Amino acid sequence: YEIYLNGMTGAVPRLPTDLTRLEEFTERRLGPGPFGYVAGSAGDGSTARANRTALARRRIVPRMLRDVHERDLRVEVLGRALPAPLALAPVGVLSILHPDAEPAAARAAAAHGVPYILSSASSTPMEQVAEAMGDAERWFQLYWPRDREVARSFLERAGAVGYTALFLTLDTPLLSWRPRDLDQAYLPFLHGVGTANYFSDPAFRAGLTKPVHEDPNAAVMHFVGMFSDPAKSWPDLAFLRENWDGPIVLKGVLHPDDARLAADAGMDGVVVSNHGGRQVAGSVAAADALPRVVEAVGDRLAVLFDSGVRTGDDVFKALALGARAVLLGRPYVYGLGLDGQAGVEHVIRCLLAELDLTLALSGHASPATPGPADLVEDPR
Ligand code: FNR
Repeated sequence: YEIYLNGMTGAVPRLPTDLTRLEEFTERRLGPGPFGYVAGSAGDGSTARANRTALARRRIVPRMLRDVHERDLRVEVLGRALPAPLALAPVGVLSILHPDAEPAAARAAAAHGVPYILSSASSTPMEQVAEAMGDAERWFQLYWPRDREVARSFLERAGAVGYTALFLTLDTPLLSWRPRDLDQAYLPFLHGVGTANYFSDPAFRAGLTKPVHEDPNAAVMHFVGMFSDPAKSWPDLAFLRENWDGPIVLKGVLHPDDARLAADAGMDGVVVSNHGGRQVAGSVAAADALPRVVEAVGDRLAVLFDSGVRTGDDVFKALALGARAVLLGRPYVYGLGLDGQAGVEHVIRCLLAELDLTLALSGHASPATPGPADLVEDPR
């Protein structure tokens, strides 16, 4: 109602309230390199499109007369009480979109009590982001550095400044084939963007022959070597357990057998995700993978979901398919690019308002109650 009441004085929102339109707004604002990097995906883009189609194909069957006048969006995830089943996904290199970068997104999340997951490839050192957030809930995403000392150093730094859960991203031991970036020969990391977390790390710097400012190109190449490591396998997870006290969540799980391996390895959760369609072209849509993972480990692990979530009804559908909560990727990144912290707050508020209304109008008073019976599959 706030928006409608403001409208009585002629004020309309600066950004669209249909969050699917943020991409077209951002395209007009950003240069082709940064925009292509954010909007783009792997191969011909079919996985990113499939993510949207898999959600759109499922339709909600609303229930009536269920007294939903008192609603509560709160959920518990990884032992933490959250105001809503939502976290901001880890997205690196945010300074290509806005100079305020990760601290602005983190402050927006903090203002709404939504956990912010800081990327390893952040353009801001993790300590600065932590400081911007005060005591608000924050989680740390790890791209597992090839060098154990660097990995250990990252975990120590993150723990020391209050990141409570670790999200280990499994689907990016190598960057995929991304034609939009290749055609424009644009990779933010090679411009030194997204390297700040690494460059501020004492163990990383110890591996350089010259200080970063004396030979930045060599430092960037050292980062690339540190970042890519397709040699990791399941037994390596024991190292993380030994070096991290809090919950560990594996991000990028699509196969139910991998979810079982995660549970057997003593992990606390998985994110069913195909990295927003950015890694394996032609892979299963995330929403199609979700039910099988929930069936395999839903009683043992926190199952979270991302890839393709744009609207409140998308969140509802993910919950109905068994996700405990969702991570939001590109929409908040577009919000940041369009209007800094205020843009991210706009996105969070719109998404949660739309989720609240979708729950209510479908006969639910809590994110915990939607289930498979609330959906049908549209055969078209
Ligand atoms: C990402 N994502 C990502 N994931 C991760 O674990 N670490 C990272 O540094 C990044 N960086 C990143 C950059 C950009 C520009 C995008 C768009 C995405 C993936 C992200 O966490 C999430 O899985 C997807 O964005 C979810 O899909 P949607 O919501 O963008 O469709």
